[in-house]
Amino acid sequence: MSDTCVVSTPAKLALFGEHAVVYGGHCIVTAVNKRMWVKIRDSRETVLTSKDMGFDHYLIEKGTTYPRNAAFVIAAMQSISNYFGGSFGGEIEIWSDFSAKYGLGSSSAVTVGVIKALAHLNNLKLDNGTLFHIAYDAVLNVQGRHKKSGMPLASGFDVASAIYGGTIDFSQNGKVRALPISDIPLIVAYSGEKASTAFYVNKVADLCAGHNSLCQSLFSISDEIVKLAESALLRSDWEEVGILMTLNHGLLSSLGVSTETLGRLVSLAIKGGAYGAKLSGAGGGDCVIAVAGKDSYENVSERLESGGAEILPLDMNAEGVKVEASGN
Ligand code: MEV
Repeated sequence: MSDTCVVSTPAKLALFGEHAVVYGGHCIVTAVNKRMWVKIRDSRETVLTSKDMGFDHYLIEKGTTYPRNAAFVIAAMQSISNYFGGSFGGEIEIWSDFSAKYGLGSSSAVTVGVIKALAHLNNLKLDNGTLFHIAYDAVLNVQGRHKKSGMPLASGFDVASAIYGGTIDFSQNGKVRALPISDIPLIVAYSGEKASTAFYVNKVADLCAGHNSLCQSLFSISDEIVKLAESALLRSDWEEVGILMTLNHGLLSSLGVSTETLGRLVSLAIKGGAYGAKLSGAGGGDCVIAVAGKDSYENVSERLESGGAEILPLDMNAEGVKVEASGN
């Protein structure tokens, strides 16, 4: 039996359908070529080392309070032990190819990586559907539910993306459909503003608690956009993909999750000749994505940079969770 295992999981970019997916709608997400790495060595003590998270041999013991940024690691261990029984742990080391500040799904990537590595080390068979349910449970334990409506404050789409990779259509309860699409001529621009996903998911839940039927109407429009986007993506119709992105951005703005900076970056991209652009993720900051043809691609990137954004060189359709090494 091996006593060490290294697992990698991809970061993600939400392309269409954010927020509506929390309420049972569909979203489209692609895995990108920056990865989170989790190495676990069998050990009686459970210690966490991660330069990125600021831990050096941090001892995890039952009954102690732990810092917030270790929450997903601890929830992942708890969730796998709820499912299989017994206790799970070891010397855990975590590092990543990307900064958590970009909002590319580091929490779900860590959660999936820890569960996959622990299952592998303990010779436990784990199909992707079961891995999704264990990891989503862990994420929900951290994110919680909306105080008034009881809505779960996460859809699990980012967990599914870390597991399956590629580009997928995701809907409630981990329903996934792989979308065999070519790489979009995508520009990914980090706005410089760090957003709190929990804050913005709560904000939309507050809005929906007071304006339920209006929000439901917006979510059904979101689903219509996702449906049209899927067909445009499958036929590589980038112009249509761009138009749908701008429409999706408008819808997210009406839910109150855009910011002045995000709105400005979307406008700059379109003025620079992009087919369309939108915020990606929960809103409040993080990234704007734009689609542009060959003739305007450079110009759009330059405009976004001159508007204060950082262009992230990301490739889409990356491979899902992977056991990279296993041995003694
Ligand atoms: C956040 O990246 C996307 C949201 O739809 C939340 C979720 O689906 O968990 C806002």
